[in-house]
Amino acid sequence: MKKRVGILTSGGDCPGLNATLRGVAKALYQRMEDNVQIVGISNGYYGLIHGEWRDMDPKEFSGILTVGGTILGTRRTPYKLMRVIGPDNVDKVEAMKKHYAEMKLDCLLCLGGNGTHKTANLLSEEGLNIIGLPKTIDNDIYGTDVTFGFHSAVDIATEAIDRVHTTAGSHSRCMVVELMGNKAGWLTLYAGIAGGADIILIPELPYTIENVCAAIEKRASKGKRFSILAVAEGAYDVKEARMKKKERMALRAEEGYTTATNRIAKDIERLTGIETRICVPGHMQRGGSPSPYDRVLATQFGSYAAKMVEDENYGITIAMKNNHVGENKLSDIAGKSRLVPESHGMLEVARRMGICTG
Ligand code: F6P
Repeated sequence: MKKRVGILTSGGDCPGLNATLRGVAKALYQRMEDNVQIVGISNGYYGLIHGEWRDMDPKEFSGILTVGGTILGTRRTPYKLMRVIGPDNVDKVEAMKKHYAEMKLDCLLCLGGNGTHKTANLLSEEGLNIIGLPKTIDNDIYGTDVTFGFHSAVDIATEAIDRVHTTAGSHSRCMVVELMGNKAGWLTLYAGIAGGADIILIPELPYTIENVCAAIEKRASKGKRFSILAVAEGAYDVKEARMKKKERMALRAEEGYTTATNRIAKDIERLTGIETRICVPGHMQRGGSPSPYDRVLATQFGSYAAKMVEDENYGITIAMKNNHVGENKLSDIAGKSRLVPESHGMLEVARRMGICTG
């Protein structure tokens, strides 16, 4: 009897999803030859809920190592709505279980971030055989030192900072580069250091505009009338840090901003007199070919997941721990996230380099 292995990609896409799909598939075919059938589920949990799936041909996994996005398609299907019956009257959890049975799956591999892992754990608790694979440019999945997608995004964000660096210098301007990361500042911290940013603002460390402007003026007093700021989209100041999310959003709506970036730029001009521009690379950070680092990581994770399928080790997610690929129980990591701790070595590096962190 062929083993039937379901696979889906869920949540926001990132470079490395296809490389991971290929890693899983190639290693499965290598290990089990004709004794395995991969079943591709379209558009993440949405496809599992609505029965969108197909038996896949091995050829579909060829030539995708370098390709961005996901050949399966993806969607955001919020975990918090999984047990809520909406106007379509569909019981999502029951529908997912029903389709899993209809596909005659032996197990299901779920590639995704924190939300994906919460639903993966829910399905595991419901008795399905689940293996997670950690993807996200935010690098914030608990229990793994790194997620695939992160290093590609660092490369892209660094290039964005490099490019505004030269124009900032020519014009003696401040450039505020807004990078992705609503709760976690890993991407901004790493790209900020790689791009030589003078100021790095992340959600974990609320800033004061006075500290930011003092750092800019200190540079100006040494003849450097340009400064580069790497600001996470989720950054907020100390006043906002005391507010509930709803209050903060209401304040920003009143001011006409969604993120802190525009306000920071306006305040810098007002308080220092230095002309300031903003740059938002946005979804470019999630697009295009994965970096060599991510291709390697995707292949390590994918091939390890294939081994877990063969060993029938379920209820887990793949992880990198101290340079070794291993696994965590889904129940141990679901619902937790990995933020930048104040004592993190990379923040220490930033401070030693004289980078203002807010
Ligand atoms: O979780 C990845 C991420 O890129 C975040 O950094 C960002 O806040 C969010 O997704 C953007 O989501 P969407 O693609 O739905 O706009």
